[in-house]
Amino acid sequence: MPKQIEPVALDDAGSALVIVDQTLIPNETRYLRLTTPEETWEAIRSLRVRGAPAIGIAAAMGLYLGVKGSEAADFEDFYHEFRQVKAYLASARPTAVNLFWALDRMEACLLRHRDRPIPEIKEALRAEAEAIREEDARANRTIGEYSLSLLKPGMGILTHCNAGALATAAYGTALAPIYLGQERGYNFRVFADETRPLLQGARLTAYELMQAGVDVTLICDNMASAVMKNGWVDAVFVGCDRVAANGDTANKIGTSGVAILARHYGIPFYVCAPTSTIDLRCPTGADIVIEERRPEEVTEQWYAKRMAPEGVKVYNPAFDVTDADLITAIITEYGIARPPYTESLKELFRRKEEAERRA
Ligand code: MRU
Repeated sequence: MPKQIEPVALDDAGSALVIVDQTLIPNETRYLRLTTPEETWEAIRSLRVRGAPAIGIAAAMGLYLGVKGSEAADFEDFYHEFRQVKAYLASARPTAVNLFWALDRMEACLLRHRDRPIPEIKEALRAEAEAIREEDARANRTIGEYSLSLLKPGMGILTHCNAGALATAAYGTALAPIYLGQERGYNFRVFADETRPLLQGARLTAYELMQAGVDVTLICDNMASAVMKNGWVDAVFVGCDRVAANGDTANKIGTSGVAILARHYGIPFYVCAPTSTIDLRCPTGADIVIEERRPEEVTEQWYAKRMAPEGVKVYNPAFDVTDADLITAIITEYGIARPPYTESLKELFRRKEEAERRA
């Protein structure tokens, strides 16, 4: 994987969240140092840091930084401040469950340490945020190994949006098998959907894979069918923002269309999901809140001049839900789930709890 990318981390002193501003890639690699909850919120909202796992890590670190300077004299006052920052960061984006998962995990950590002096609680929060990042990197490497077991050298892989190193602590989810395959001489041919309207595929996936020396071809979203019909795609790999208990999966807008095409052409459609992205409390895809974003992302952004009539109505959902029955398998750090997902996802969480008990 591209070694120079460090998408989201605390600085050594634990005094700032350092992110690479993903809105500027590929033209510029600029790191930002964020110290306030407002800066972290803005960075998540504007997709300077983006991708479900990276959003969760940023929020956890932003929450730690948001209470690090607290002068609260007792636990109750500290907890009150903590909850305010937590609620604020949780409002940055609605769809990726990693945001809420990471913030809840920080709260559980705080409550485990409630009898400790406040400086110790702060240190525990810092360690928890770091642990979330480290565990994500390990989970993605394992997801990469499981995913690679489904692939053969020389295969063509189509991916949508960016579920790569930039979107996570390291490796990415859907791009993890591609990076591992690259290390092992698999010579995959990757097709990256540009991913309208924010072009995460064109700007980020194409950039990441080229940096790593992977054979990547950029296509507009409406070319996926032609590429599949040509016989160039052996498997589709995508990431996700929230998997419901029945396997319905929210991911970047356009993903469900790719899944429907894959079904038509008989191509396996795989979703890579760390368990931090699986929400068993959410029964089906209909229960997932889909973010809607500014019309200007469709009408103006990236164009030299506005390309749609002033005043036109715009519908700009940032995600869609792929029905579980279009998904060949969901690949996690605890193994590969196959239909029926209502059973197989529960089984994965049993394995996870077992592994955590033994650790
Ligand atoms: O709006 P974005 O760019 O945050 O959307 C990101 C995606 O849809 C990714 O595919 C998903 O978060 C998985 S990242 C490993």
